[in-house]
Amino acid sequence: MRKIEAIVREEKLQDVLDALTAAEITGITVYQVMGCGTQRGCAGVVRGQKVYTQLLPKVKFEIVVSDEKWEKIAIDAIRSSAATGHYGDGKIFAYDLDTVIRIRTGETGYDAINGSKMEE
Ligand SMILES: Nc1ncnc2c1ncn2[C@@H]1O[C@H](COP(=O)(O)OP(=O)(O)OP(=O)(O)O)[C@@H](O)[C@H]1O
Ligand SMILES: [Mg+2]
Repeated sequence: MRKIEAIVREEKLQDVLDALTAAEITGITVYQVMGCGTQRGCAGVVRGQKVYTQLLPKVKFEIVVSDEKWEKIAIDAIRSSAATGHYGDGKIFAYDLDTVIRIRTGETGYDAINGSKMEE
């Protein structure tokens, strides 16, 4: 299983959610976060003073998918919906994840991520 974390512009929240939904990604956690990247959140000179490090509001997505095929689908959806081409568009991190448990059923791993439809 793979875990994807993506930090994007806060105004891109709905666009990214829509793209993930269209790509049939279901499990999504979203956080409001503060952060800075290589420009250290620098807005240049503010009121005559050079600003060194400031944190800017961003939105963070956490998504766990079953395999690398779904990882690619999710990353493509995030990139295409979050990009503006300007500094500060965000970053995507991905890594292996060992354990997933669906609390309701006790299912683990792949079964805990996929294929649980609500019963009639
Ligand atoms: N190395 C990192 N570790 C943790 N979080 C990061 C890292 N780089 C960026 N972020 C997070 O992503 C947000 C957006 O980063 P940003 O897009 O500015 O990255 P960047 O590397 O500076 O790229 P760019 O040059 O396109 O601006 C940051 O506010 C921060 O929350
Ligand atoms: Mg940056």
